[in-house]
Amino acid sequence: MNEADPQKYHVITFGCQMNSHDSERISGMLEQRGMVPAADQDDADVVVFNTCTIREKPDQKLYTQLDQAKGSKRRRGGNQVIAVGGCLVEAQRDNLLAQFPWVDVAFGPGRIRDLGNFLELADGEGASVGQTPGDGEGFYGIADERSFASELPTRRDRPHQAWVQISMGCNMKCSYCIVPAVRGREVSRPFAEIVTEVERLAADGAREVTLLGQNVNSYGNHLPRDGSPRTFAELLRAVDAIDGIDRIRYTSPHPAHMREDVIAAMAECSSVMPQLHLPLQAGSNRVLKAMRRTYTRERFVDLAAKIRASIPDIAFSTDIIVGFPGETEAEFLETVEVCREVQFDGAFTFIYSSRTGTEAAALTADFIPPAEQQRRLEHLVDVVRAIATERHQRHVGSVQPVLVEGAARKPANRLRGRSPHNVKVIFEGDAPDGAIVPVRIVHATSETLLGRQLTDAGELVAAPASSRSVVTFDTIST
Ligand code: SAH
Ligand code: SF4
Ligand code: F3S
Repeated sequence: MNEADPQKYHVITFGCQMNSHDSERISGMLEQRGMVPAADQDDADVVVFNTCTIREKPDQKLYTQLDQAKGSKRRRGGNQVIAVGGCLVEAQRDNLLAQFPWVDVAFGPGRIRDLGNFLELADGEGASVGQTPGDGEGFYGIADERSFASELPTRRDRPHQAWVQISMGCNMKCSYCIVPAVRGREVSRPFAEIVTEVERLAADGAREVTLLGQNVNSYGNHLPRDGSPRTFAELLRAVDAIDGIDRIRYTSPHPAHMREDVIAAMAECSSVMPQLHLPLQAGSNRVLKAMRRTYTRERFVDLAAKIRASIPDIAFSTDIIVGFPGETEAEFLETVEVCREVQFDGAFTFIYSSRTGTEAAALTADFIPPAEQQRRLEHLVDVVRAIATERHQRHVGSVQPVLVEGAARKPANRLRGRSPHNVKVIFEGDAPDGAIVPVRIVHATSETLLGRQLTDAGELVAAPASSRSVVTFDTIST
């Protein structure tokens, strides 16, 4: 290979925003080592799979892709390093390497910082990256040796939006969930370090930040009580005070840790967006207890009402699991009732998936047949979609400040952005990425708002003539 040719990498990401952010760190670190993005997987000297194991589906998807990776490695005469990182690695450890011997490097979610060294090892063996390093041993670690990857450079695809990790791990014991086992105990990043990172992001052009953690609002619980700011509410206020940051979001909070001071900070900080992801999981108290969610249906509904009283226009989204072991039809219908009561603007709905090593995995006698789980899911999806469509009608006729993200995929001559409520907006207009522009909303579906950009004086802004087409909003089906 030509010495001057930079080596190429390709990262494939599964799972949540935390993982997407980890992939930004992985890419940033590889670029710091002089690598450049590959056009596709076959073109890459190093392929990194950043995995998720929250449900069985992502596991299966990864296994299929790892089988395909064997082929891509063979096509390059073995001259490709296959690295697998993320949560599934922590759950499977040596099994993964035994099952997929063409995987060269495996690293847990707490060892991202070390990936460069693991790959360097390959160089140290006298081979360029692109040949199997060492003896194929894996590298894990969520325990003592894990570390924040926060000091690593980040490769962000959208300069105006940034994720900021504020904690890692989770101390909750939700009986269905694998996250505590694969991400470890909760650790909060130092307060000042987070503020400095956001200041740097603002200087770098970021206008929107999303604070990330598995249990984001228990941030600071284990930080030293030395009189300096340390709570999540104080963090929201500190980030709100940073010049240049116009939009603050965070995910995922736990309802049990949604304290008064956090609600007050949300209501009082103008940059904190009127949007909250509040995972419900289930609407029946018996199921919530079996899930070890630590709140009741009534407490959840009261909490939502209290937040709405402080932030009247707030948009709630949620996560719901159907078909938890032993869930009866009546209990499932309680979940449906709570959705109607709380009026979520959107919901991620999941079929319960048994994860080895979790408490609920032992409840095999009570497992719900897959066909029944599927039926419940479809019913729930219909209900949440209808509620979301109805909720979104309140925006029709209003003017929303939209953060422009780029060209819409469909139709081609429209722009795409996000409203303060974090709803996707497709609109006719003419504005650069990263601008926040007024858009009059003309139509709303369960997931999308359609609109037309206005000037500051309230006039319609037309799309540039070259890209205008005859498509009208009436013909768009979303
Ligand atoms: N820390 C976050 C997110 C955890 S994973 C939180 O607590 O909200 C995201 C979602 O996946 C969860 O909220 C839950 O709804 C879902 N989930 C987790 N484990 C699951 C399982 N075993 N089966 C189905 N869905 C699951
Ligand atoms: Fe999993 Fe519960 Fe922790 Fe969320 S709060 S990551 S669902 S254990
Ligand atoms: Fe998946 Fe790990 Fe996130 S299991 S959902 S990638 S924390």
